[in-house]
Amino acid sequence: MAMARQFSQEQLRVRPSSKEEAVVRSAQEHFERTLVRVRGELVGSVAALEHPRKSDAANYGEVFLRDNVPVMLYLLLQGRYEIVRNFLNTCLDLQSSTYQTRGIFPTSFVEENGSVLADYGQRSIGRITSVDASLWWPVLCWLYVQKSRDVEFGTSQRVQRGVQLLLDLVLHPTFEGTPVLFVPDCAFMIDRPMDVWGAPLEVEVLLYGCLRSCCQLMELAQKNALSRLLEQRLVLTREWLHELRRFLLKHYWVTSKTMQVLRRRPTEQYGDHQHENEFNVQPQVIPPWLQDWLENRGGYLIGNMRTGRPDFRFYSLGNSLACLFGILTAPQQRALFRLVLHNRQHLMAQMPMRICHPPMAMDEWADKTGSDPKNWPWSYHNGGHWPSLLWYLAGAVLIHEQRYPRADVLLMGQMRAMLEECYWSQLNQLPRQQWAEYFDGPTGTWVGQQARTYQTWTIVGFLLLHHLLRVEPQDVSLLNIGD
Ligand code: GLC
Repeated sequence: MAMARQFSQEQLRVRPSSKEEAVVRSAQEHFERTLVRVRGELVGSVAALEHPRKSDAANYGEVFLRDNVPVMLYLLLQGRYEIVRNFLNTCLDLQSSTYQTRGIFPTSFVEENGSVLADYGQRSIGRITSVDASLWWPVLCWLYVQKSRDVEFGTSQRVQRGVQLLLDLVLHPTFEGTPVLFVPDCAFMIDRPMDVWGAPLEVEVLLYGCLRSCCQLMELAQKNALSRLLEQRLVLTREWLHELRRFLLKHYWVTSKTMQVLRRRPTEQYGDHQHENEFNVQPQVIPPWLQDWLENRGGYLIGNMRTGRPDFRFYSLGNSLACLFGILTAPQQRALFRLVLHNRQHLMAQMPMRICHPPMAMDEWADKTGSDPKNWPWSYHNGGHWPSLLWYLAGAVLIHEQRYPRADVLLMGQMRAMLEECYWSQLNQLPRQQWAEYFDGPTGTWVGQQARTYQTWTIVGFLLLHHLLRVEPQDVSLLNIGD
């Protein structure tokens, strides 16, 4: 125990750099430039400050909801509540009211010639369906209410109506009859074809965070004025949450031990009394790399569960969020940390952290992505490295330490040491590489072929990491959405 503590303190002392302050200061300056106004008020950040080919500015000049998650959290830490409220309000104004999409929040928006233009997927490349933005909104709203204590906003009719509209989208009968949200390919941060249709981890984990936050907001309103309808909605939402967590832990969580059972399960099971292999997964689909990946004591949530075709790829964001939202139990979270340490050369390499592992190789890439050149093996979503993802893992580690201060001090010391080194990699490289959006190749050394520079969530992700590791680790409690 003592050794672990000494180790992490040692890490904190190594490599002092006079550069550090200058890098943080310039990141802060870039960040200020990303903030934009809508109808004269600051509402959030554009996705990137610079695009390689400005003529094809595409949509990187827009305010993306998902890219603004770290932005809003950073603003909350700084006490700049008004901008966060403006952001939440603007999104509410844009919550769709047309019949076929009622209740969904836009992926992005922009002010053009005095009017606000929103994209719900109908303007995007490939006309994809966007789901994560809608699920993030209640989470951000609840974190804002919790931190700013703006109960008036949280209980306002506007917010409560937005929550109900969103819940209508989720809590209704479906053909599957499961607690997961069934989505097409490209429905979240991975917004190009990557064979992530069905019940991708990130969407389901966000659904959990969304429902939990909706419950918190409804409970707040319920305290103000009792309503029978709201009470019914609360009961249903809580039940759904419970079922969803059970479903994810049962079907997505794998360890070396569970794999040994899964490999020897019977197949072709019919009827409701046989439930060892509900999704009829053939042992042949279990990839050989999984053995070393899991080693003895590692565990993680797999990427997707579908009839006969689970996706065993590792997705960094979904797994980090599953810790933050408390879906994984404490021992499961530590198994995940062990897995990250064990596979550090893949997940972190030169630029932490890889979005999804392993990448699809050529044949599969051609087939599953429609030969998408952006998602070439080892690039972009297909095994690329995204600096913006690291702070989510750091948040998961710090919140774990806060919740369970005495658990496995040696492991947590190793995690801290790893985060410290990753922080230094970013500190040294990101300014030189102009805060690029993503990095390519098996070690993540090369700036992504089509990466934008001065990408907002790269900049603000680094600032959050700096805040959590250097300024105030206790502030990680901001991310607590409650039990
Ligand atoms: C790309 C990313 C997406 C991000 C957007 C704006 O489309 O795949 O996740 O939100 O860029 O940065």
